[in-house]
Amino acid sequence: MAIAGSGSATPKVALDNQDLSQIVETSDEWIRTRTGIQQRYVASPEESLAGVAAQAAERAIAMAETTSAEIDLILLATSTPDDLFGSASQIQSLLGASRAVAFDLTAACSGFIFGLVTASQFIRTGVYQNVLLIGADLLSRWTDWSDRRTCVLFGDGAGAVVLQANPERDRLLGFELCSDGTHNQSLNLTYQGKSQPLLKDVSISHGSYYPITMNGKEVYRFAVAKVPEVISKALFRAQLTAEQVDWLLLHQANQRIMDAVAQRLNISSDRAISNLAKYGNTSAASIPLALDETVRQETIQPGDIIAASGFGAGLTWGAAIFQWGR
Ligand code: UT7
Repeated sequence: MAIAGSGSATPKVALDNQDLSQIVETSDEWIRTRTGIQQRYVASPEESLAGVAAQAAERAIAMAETTSAEIDLILLATSTPDDLFGSASQIQSLLGASRAVAFDLTAACSGFIFGLVTASQFIRTGVYQNVLLIGADLLSRWTDWSDRRTCVLFGDGAGAVVLQANPERDRLLGFELCSDGTHNQSLNLTYQGKSQPLLKDVSISHGSYYPITMNGKEVYRFAVAKVPEVISKALFRAQLTAEQVDWLLLHQANQRIMDAVAQRLNISSDRAISNLAKYGNTSAASIPLALDETVRQETIQPGDIIAASGFGAGLTWGAAIFQWGR
């Protein structure tokens, strides 16, 4: 498997920390020092998850020097589809990727890593040659904008990669995926419904998914403990050490988490990719967004070894060790 191209996109409007202090009781100083975030993008009512995702996808397809018509599979990692039945098919239609089968995959902030591993299985078995993997989320739609503990953290965006069959060399060197539902209540965007009677003895539930709730401290502790461990396991599978990693690419949730993980792995900060300040926590989009930005800056070079790790609701977490390029 090769990673032939990347792309990313955000909605148009950016809110900085000062803007947020007009919505909830917070400050630029608190948000910067506790999280490292300076601004984030939020989707307007006219923008859609499928639209932002398709923009990122078009850029990835162009970089891969292929066309939508060549794509066999579209995998959309998201927790915030426009349609609960799935938004991948809408993206297929927007791209005109008529040959592709398309479906959604939900694993919250781990979605991109879970998607990368899922896509690689189809490629390794020879079923598909060209896979478009998108991580996209518009968490602003589900944020409680009166809750300062969560609303300052999230942002909207999309990132995509084109994965291609490469019989010469498999660029996915190792991975490890994990779930632990016993801590599910730490971070939720759950369905809440009210009972509605249909017949004398039959009631159903009607409601919506709103809003995000999080035990920040618990998630923080979980991330700092589990992420170095899962990366070490994936490195072991790749028969590599942390020293051999060119870039540490973590889910962009909190700069303090990223610093603590890098420190535990003994990876210096100049090898740890961070663009959280500009985007906030964009959930499934954060890893491909940061990857694309760094690739386009030519900081990541073909052949560079990247240790990527996602973590979040579920709880889910995972790591993939891969080389950039064909
Ligand atoms: O992608 C999913 C993964 N999610 C994460 O990785 C999130 C992990 N957790 C975190 O990043 C951190 O726990 C937070 C950034 C969410 C919170 O940081 P913290 O250092 O754990 O702060 P805290 O929750 O202990 O709150 C400290 C104080 C509290 O006030 P008191 O009780 O000490 O008086 C909060 O009420 O800060 C207060 N606070 C705020 N103050 C100003 C909480 N949010 C804010 C805010 N502005 N936005």
